[in-house]
Amino acid sequence: MKHLVSIRDLSRQDALSLLSSAQELSQVNERSIKKLPTLRGRTVVNLFYENSTRTRISFEIAAKRLSADVINVSADSSSVTKGESLKDTAQTLEALGADCIVLRHPTSGAAHQLANFGWINSSVINAGDGTHEHPTQALLDALTIQQKLGEDLSEMKVLIVGDIRHSRVARSNAILLGMLGARVEFAGPDSLVPIELKNLAASISNDFDVSIANKPDVVMMLRVQRERMLENFKDSQREYINQWSLSRERLQKLAKRTLIMHPGPINRGLEISPEAAEDPRSVILQQVKNGLAVRMAVLHRLLSEEQ
Ligand code: CP
Repeated sequence: MKHLVSIRDLSRQDALSLLSSAQELSQVNERSIKKLPTLRGRTVVNLFYENSTRTRISFEIAAKRLSADVINVSADSSSVTKGESLKDTAQTLEALGADCIVLRHPTSGAAHQLANFGWINSSVINAGDGTHEHPTQALLDALTIQQKLGEDLSEMKVLIVGDIRHSRVARSNAILLGMLGARVEFAGPDSLVPIELKNLAASISNDFDVSIANKPDVVMMLRVQRERMLENFKDSQREYINQWSLSRERLQKLAKRTLIMHPGPINRGLEISPEAAEDPRSVILQQVKNGLAVRMAVLHRLLSEEQ
C-alpha cells in the first residue's frame, strides 16, 4: 500500500490489520522512552491548507515517535499565498526530500489528485479533503469503539448525528464501520443529510429522540461546520439545538454503556452540551489519544522498509 486517500483503499483485512497494529503501537506511547527506530532517515511533510489541532499535531508526534524527520508546512505561511499550485508545492517538497506528504485541503479530491495524477512519487496520506474523507479519523474512531466495547463491531449500532452533509468524518466512518459489520444510522435535519449519502448508512433518521430510544451502542456527534455553509446558520441555531443537540436531557436517556464520541473540535452548547462532553461515557479524549497510535500505524505501513 503506497497511499491512504480513502477508506476504500483498504480491504477489510487491511483495516483490521491497521487497527491491530495501532493497538500494539499504543503500548509504545505508555513507555518512558516513547520511540522506535523504524522510520529513521525518512521525511514526512505535513502540508496543511486548513487549520488543524488534533490531526496535524498527532501526525507530527507519530512520525517523531517512529524516528522520521518531520516538516510542517502551513499553506498560509508558505508560497501558496503567492499563487503556487498544489502540484508545484508538492514537487518542491519532494525535491527537498519528502517521502510522504500528509495533506489537508479544503477541496474534495485534492489528496486523490496528489496521489494519482503522477505529479510526485511520495506517499500521500489524506488528512481531510473538503467534505469527502478523513480516513485516519475513521480508523481512530473504530479503534476507540473496539477498546471500549469489544473488538468485533458486527451488529453494533452506531448513530452519527448532525451535520452529515459537510462531514468527511461521517463519510469515512460510515464506509469503515459498515465494512466492519456495524449498523450505521445517520440522523440529522433533511437539509444536512444529502440524498447521495443515504446509501452509506443502514438507515436514516429525522428524529434524534427516536434514534436514542433505539438504544445505540455509540452516539457520534458531529461539529456543525458553519464555515462550509452557504446560508447563515445563526437564524436556525436555536431550532438546531432543540432538535439535534446532545443536551443534558437527552444524555439522561442514553444507556449506561453507550459511548459518546465527537471528532473535535467541539462547539460546546451547540451540537453537544458541556455535560455530555464531560460525561463518564464520553470518549472524546480517548479518540484524540488513539489518533496518535493510528497515525503511527499508517505511517509505519506506508513507509517502513518491512512492507
Ligand atoms: N478531528 C479533526 O480532524 O480535528 P482537527 O481539525 O483539529 O485536526
